[in-house]
Amino acid sequence: MDTLHLTTSQEDIETAARILRQGGLVAMPTETVYGLAANALDEEAVSSIFVAKGRPSDNPLIVHISSVEDIERYSLVSSFPEKARKLANAFWPGPLTIIMPKSESVPSVVTGGLDSVAVRFPSHPAAQALISRAGCPLAAPSANLSGSPSPTTAEHVSKDLEGRVHAIMDGGPAQVGLESTVITLCTEPPTLLRPGGVTLEQLRDVLGQVDLSDAVLNKLNEGAQAPSPGMKYRHYAPKAKVYLVKAEDDTFRDFLSSKDKNSTVALCYDEDVPHLSVHTLPLGEKNDYTTQAHNLFSALRSADEIPGTQVVYVRCPDTEGVGMALFNRLIRAAGFEVIDLE
Ligand code: TXA
Ligand code: MG
Repeated sequence: MDTLHLTTSQEDIETAARILRQGGLVAMPTETVYGLAANALDEEAVSSIFVAKGRPSDNPLIVHISSVEDIERYSLVSSFPEKARKLANAFWPGPLTIIMPKSESVPSVVTGGLDSVAVRFPSHPAAQALISRAGCPLAAPSANLSGSPSPTTAEHVSKDLEGRVHAIMDGGPAQVGLESTVITLCTEPPTLLRPGGVTLEQLRDVLGQVDLSDAVLNKLNEGAQAPSPGMKYRHYAPKAKVYLVKAEDDTFRDFLSSKDKNSTVALCYDEDVPHLSVHTLPLGEKNDYTTQAHNLFSALRSADEIPGTQVVYVRCPDTEGVGMALFNRLIRAAGFEVIDLE
């Protein structure tokens, strides 16, 4: 198929909304990463998302809304817990996905057969306008081919999905740069399943006790049941081999000084750049996790575009604040391979 390239003009939003109402696929900008959207209540449209991405069908999708009232309007949940209201007040619209008990109205193709549904109210104005003009909730995973890093620009989407989707809407670079935080209210206490722009500390401030799923920071044991199916798949991985390196500044720089300049790339801090002779892809200043998050997926994609790249060494972040989300993505990109020099 020919992929239509759209802006966020009102006219283009109407065009995209029409495509969605007719059961088509539209890649839309959000503040986290680009999403590949379809009408969440149209089974056939939702099924085509899995085909376009090459995504396993047991991996459930997030349902996107453009107001808290949409949850009731489209009767998405069988109950709207008090804790969901608190989270919505504190973090919506924004980079938080809340998992709640699902209603009959949500097709099981959306939830991978689970009896819960993931809901998010994004803050990107174009996403909000598109959802409300489409007149339906939108199921949308990240708009990448399954297994590659999530897209943070319309160009990334086009690299992966040109010719596989009806339209790509360019809404500029994604502000957060990492996928939303995912919390489930189907456990007591609630459990953080995927860290993102909303941090564990912020969630605990609002809800009190929040558990951290083991799979966030550790590799699942062979055969263990993933609390969130997405966690069991290989993710975010460039074609080059990625290693996380746990080391102080000088140790990291010394370690890299012995590496082959033509095949090695360092995903590092701005402060490292003058001290390294291998190819560098700086993510931001050492203590600025927000900027590092914004740049991470773009850097992982760029690593593959540097001719000759075979190995990528990445500085290992702490797991505080947004650092937890960075660590969670990087440890998967690295297939859990950590070089510990501390
Ligand atoms: O920021 C985001 O969340 C982006 C944008 C487009 O909104 N979307 C996104 O979707 O990252 P996706 O499909 O790449 O990731 C959704 C994650 C997956 O790990 C999936 O397994 C999990 O959420 N998930 C969805 N529904 C779930 C459910 N009912 N129970 C447990 N995990 C669920
Ligand atoms: Mg994804």
